[in-house]
Amino acid sequence: MMRLRDWSLRGKLTAIVMLTTVVALVVACAAFLAYDRVIFRRTLVATRSVLADIVGANSTAALTFRDRASAREVVMALEAEPHVTAAYIYDGDGREFASYVRTDGALARPAPPVGTAPVFLPDRLGVFRPILLDGQTIGTVYVESDLGELSARQGQYVQIGLVVLALASGAALLLLASLQGIVSRPILDVVHTARHVSSHEDYAIRARKYGQDEIGTLVDAFNDMLQQIEEHQRQLRAARDAAETANRAKSAFLANMSHELRTPLNGIIGYTEMLLEESEDGGQASLIADLNQVRKAAKHLLALINNILDLSKIEAGKMDVHVERFEIAALVHDVIGVIEPLVTVNGNTLRIDLPDAVARSEMETDRVKLRQTLWNLLSNACKFTREGHVTLRVRRDPSRPGWLTFAVSDTGPGMTSEERQTLFQEFVQGDAAQRHQYGGTGLGLAISRRFCGLIGGDIGVESRPNAGSTFTIRVPAVVGRAAPAERSVA
Ligand SMILES: Nc1ncnc2c1ncn2[C@@H]1O[C@H](COP(=O)(O)OP(=O)(O)OP(=O)(O)O)[C@@H](O)[C@H]1O
Ligand SMILES: [Mg+2]
Repeated sequence: MMRLRDWSLRGKLTAIVMLTTVVALVVACAAFLAYDRVIFRRTLVATRSVLADIVGANSTAALTFRDRASAREVVMALEAEPHVTAAYIYDGDGREFASYVRTDGALARPAPPVGTAPVFLPDRLGVFRPILLDGQTIGTVYVESDLGELSARQGQYVQIGLVVLALASGAALLLLASLQGIVSRPILDVVHTARHVSSHEDYAIRARKYGQDEIGTLVDAFNDMLQQIEEHQRQLRAARDAAETANRAKSAFLANMSHELRTPLNGIIGYTEMLLEESEDGGQASLIADLNQVRKAAKHLLALINNILDLSKIEAGKMDVHVERFEIAALVHDVIGVIEPLVTVNGNTLRIDLPDAVARSEMETDRVKLRQTLWNLLSNACKFTREGHVTLRVRRDPSRPGWLTFAVSDTGPGMTSEERQTLFQEFVQGDAAQRHQYGGTGLGLAISRRFCGLIGGDIGVESRPNAGSTFTIRVPAVVGRAAPAERSVA
């Protein structure tokens, strides 16, 4: 059963008012009944005493002349009183002189000993009155009557009380139905508004205020809170719009700048390579080392600019997806071709784990982006691993039909969980020593994740310090046909 505190506001109000009404009426009826009982008993004693006095007065002569037959006639006259059950006349010595006992068998009690005070038995009342002659007590009358009048009267009152209770409860219910809205409506209104706010995130709505009471104060506070949230939201939206505009402007600027920078840089690389060839042909060994440095620096700069250009295009929403159909074997072959020179630099070996069935299957996606993502992961594995193994494992995703996984594992230094938290963020690299040792821009993983997102997939990572790392790309074989990937957390 629902606990009272979980009842609706209307239910609680009804229960409280009805309980109060019923209790108040029951207490009032009980008090009235008790009062009436006391008063009625007093009245009964008085009327029975008068009756006894009359019997006493009528039996004075009979008692004086010891005429039992007359005395008996006097008491027998009480037969006309339906509630009188017995009457006794005692002489001056307290002996029974004459008696009347109603013959309906309701009671056949022995005559009580002579007394003076009224006797209340559970169902009877007995009164003693002295029989006086010239101020002298010559005997005693005892009149006993049942309490039928009292119980009939009380029974009637109980019935009336029940009717009053029913009518009052009905009236209270009716009144409650029309009046409880005064309390419940403003509260329900606040509840309704709060629900609307949380489900529609609509902070412009306001709760209606019905009065200046505590609920009115609550409504004011609630509306005030909504106003503040709305204002904060407006400020946040304005800040976000401004940031987005600035970001787009920055991306557009970078895209233009990167383009402007790439053209002369490509020129520098081209001319440096020409000069290198000429120096090698002319045997100018002293120039070759310097020119190699120039070429290396220019290529690094070009890689950096290319990355920034990619990132800017993605952020500006200008990175298009070019879908083509190709065999997975061809893609992996391409990647091996460009990564192989990097594998041996640190004395690593590369293993390709590509089952034939997978190798022969086809994908329909942006080949260039997938290839660049694989290259980024493999180049990281080769860069950070020394004298170890790098493995590229391609599989069909067993948990999602139509999806493929490309896992790049290495036996390199691995990462702590803190390092993993910041992976995939732009310009985040290891410590200064690592940056100095390996170079790079810290953009490879950020771009890779964005590329994967563009073709409907994602990248996840598993790694432990000194236990190597595994970066896994999950992508749909056919872009746009599978449900979007759940973002796996790095
Ligand atoms: N296989 C890996 N093993 C250990 N650490 C890695 C590995 N791959 C990435 N990291 C860590 O993640 C950081 C970010 O990698 P990311 O590829 O984004 O940048 P980068 O390789 O430093 O520079 P870039 O790729 O732009 O040349 C790296 O600097 C390195 O600290
Ligand atoms: Mg990298």
